[in-house]
Amino acid sequence: MFEPIKIRGMTFDNRIIMPSMGTLMTGDDSMVTQRMIDYYVERAKGGAALIFLECASIWPESTQGYALGISDDKFIPGLTQLVDAIHAVGGKVGIQLYEAAEGIMNGHADTSKLRIMTPIDRYHGKWKAVKTEELPLIAQAFGAAAQRAARCGFDAIEIHCGHNYLLHQFLSPHFNTRTDGYGTTFENCMKFPLMCIDQVRKNWPEEKPLFMRIVAQDDYTYDAQGNFDGLTIDNMVTFCRKAHELGVDVLDVSRGNFGKGNIYEVPVMGIPYGFNKDNALYLKKQVGMPVMAVGRLGRPELANITLAQGADFVAWGHAHIADPEIVKKCREGRYDDIRYCIGCDQACSQAYHIPDAKHISCLRNPAVGREREFALVPAETPKTILVAGAGVGGMEVACTLSARGHKVILCEKEATLGGQFRLAGMAPNKEDFAAAVDYMIRQVQLSDVELRVDTPVTPALLEEIGPDHLVIATGGQMREIPVPGGSCAVSCADILNGHRKPFGKCVIIGGGIISVEVMEYLHERGFDTTIVGGMAKLGAGLSHGRAEAVDRYLEAHPEVTVITNAWVTKLEPNRVYAHVKEEKKNRRTGEVTIVREEDIEVPGDTIVSAVGSVPVDHSALEETATRLGIPYSIIGDAKKTRFAVDAIREAAELARQL
Ligand SMILES: Cc1cc2nc3c(=O)[nH]c(=O)nc-3n(C[C@H](O)[C@H](O)[C@H](O)COP(=O)(O)OP(=O)(O)OC[C@H]3O[C@@H](n4cnc5c(N)ncnc54)[C@H](O)[C@@H]3O)c2cc1C
Ligand SMILES: Cc1cc2nc3c(=O)[nH]c(=O)nc-3n(C[C@H](O)[C@H](O)[C@H](O)COP(=O)(O)O)c2cc1C
Ligand code: SF4
Repeated sequence: MFEPIKIRGMTFDNRIIMPSMGTLMTGDDSMVTQRMIDYYVERAKGGAALIFLECASIWPESTQGYALGISDDKFIPGLTQLVDAIHAVGGKVGIQLYEAAEGIMNGHADTSKLRIMTPIDRYHGKWKAVKTEELPLIAQAFGAAAQRAARCGFDAIEIHCGHNYLLHQFLSPHFNTRTDGYGTTFENCMKFPLMCIDQVRKNWPEEKPLFMRIVAQDDYTYDAQGNFDGLTIDNMVTFCRKAHELGVDVLDVSRGNFGKGNIYEVPVMGIPYGFNKDNALYLKKQVGMPVMAVGRLGRPELANITLAQGADFVAWGHAHIADPEIVKKCREGRYDDIRYCIGCDQACSQAYHIPDAKHISCLRNPAVGREREFALVPAETPKTILVAGAGVGGMEVACTLSARGHKVILCEKEATLGGQFRLAGMAPNKEDFAAAVDYMIRQVQLSDVELRVDTPVTPALLEEIGPDHLVIATGGQMREIPVPGGSCAVSCADILNGHRKPFGKCVIIGGGIISVEVMEYLHERGFDTTIVGGMAKLGAGLSHGRAEAVDRYLEAHPEVTVITNAWVTKLEPNRVYAHVKEEKKNRRTGEVTIVREEDIEVPGDTIVSAVGSVPVDHSALEETATRLGIPYSIIGDAKKTRFAVDAIREAAELARQL
């Protein structure tokens, strides 16, 4: 990992690159902001060989909203400031050049002016094809952007030919249906991307490296007869050879296209580690040029194996969001200190699906995008602070308060720490969640926090300790189904932690994130599984990527029975009674019609309740604190049952305020 390599005139002092990742931190004018500078500088300090900035738009009409711009000279001062800031901390920085076309369409920008290359828009019907005579103009715009990048002082650039952006759409026989000489045959499909590459290389200094991001292949792209009609890896070999001849130096081998193939673009939990690395190795062998392997390789051991197998670089994307210092920690052998990404998909790329999200963040690292305001400042007046509950919220707040110089007493009523998140780690594909809890426990152990396990914070204990401040982080507890016979159901918590053994046919009640995970847990252990959810779709609360993964899972396992729109009315030890009411809304008139309404009975041997949780009652602590004049704060699920991402964020914020 730490063996230098030279590409053209640039020496990379190690093999880890932070790939291009959108931040949503630009201003509305697509300009660089101080927030962005702080975010990237933090990561540059962390020791990656090269930091790629997020994709920057080369075409004026596509330079909108959150898209970083490089389509005009007006962007040069901001970009230069960013480059200088990264150089000042010893980092190297590249920029990714792209024309988004249909890729930029999720409510963050006015998409009406964007262009797609297909004459017939398969998806929306409202976009215009790029005119043939516009193609050289777009290629020139790529060249002009490369020239600007050189003026800003970037060390490297990357041309984006993947992820269904314009150049990928041209390359892909599935998407490219042009009949103007730029589509139909693969030879034609390559013409426009090669034209753009040529322009970029001609306008980019000879001594500086040019990367090219590609997808190794298309996924889930079929013609009307069901035959695969997308890009194959051998198409890519042909294209990459030509691109190499035009002066591309490194292939950045990603994956992911519109539709179902999208899950590979920003891969998260459930997608195997290193799922795409063999493609990079294959391309290296066939094309004979340096490659960067991409996709769930963010562990030192995986990176080292991939490099040993022949990759020249390894991309660590999510890994850098979760822990900007990851490379430095590896260099120093501090592997246990790495705060690994857990693939939760809840705060980084998910920000693109939350209309009012200010910028990307991270479940494990709420300082993302707030690096300046989150810098730790020693407490002016160190206090004694009692934290009740050592779930993720309690541990986060305790460690940070302690790091600021407060005396912290952290009490947990159980023998183990981690609260509900430990339980989350027992669900399928969530081993990394459990490891995250272990990491947090280690941080508590390394800190000056006074930890007391098997110690519930009671009014008496509060009075005895008499802290200057109380943090109530007592979390939530599973809810019983509020229907007659509700106590017949076993709590999903007891199933996951092994306190109750399921048997026979299992019926899970609840349609949210936890019910889906318990369903997977039971199904994978061979149980006949039915899930009864109240909403039209399963998985409320799941991120975009994980919801897609659940759809895929259910598609692959038709033996799992899914009953939606079903409100449970009564339980008996071996039977679930529910009222099913399915409605359909006419989108034009708004008229709602009932398409199905009936009472159903679902027999089952183990009935599992997964209908969410409620805050643990902490009113006695509040009353005592008020009576004693002890100020207090409530965080996480104790305040309102939600997710760990909320608990950790609130903990991190509070710890900087006290
Ligand atoms: C199966 C499952 C899957 C989940 N999956 C996800 C997910 O994918 N993503 C996500 O973001 N969230 C997920 N969650 C939710 C997440 O785990 C919780 O939102 C989060 O753990 C809340 O953290 P917390 O610290 O506020 O409370 P908790 O985790 O509930 O911790 C509270 C702690 O306080 C202790 N305690 C209670 N009363 C006292 C007292 N009086 N004195 C001392 N200690 C006390 C408890 O024993 C517990 O250890 C999942 C939850 C479950 C159950
Ligand atoms: C928040 C986020 C934004 C991303 N934006 C881009 C982007 O602008 N351009 C790009 O080519 N890939 C983008 N990606 C994909 C990453 O560059 C990377 O290929 C992917 O996350 C797989 O690598 P990883 O498993 O190491 O994270 C993004 C990923 C994330 C998490
Ligand atoms: S939000 Fe989740 S998926 Fe995204 S970087 Fe953080 S831990 Fe990883």
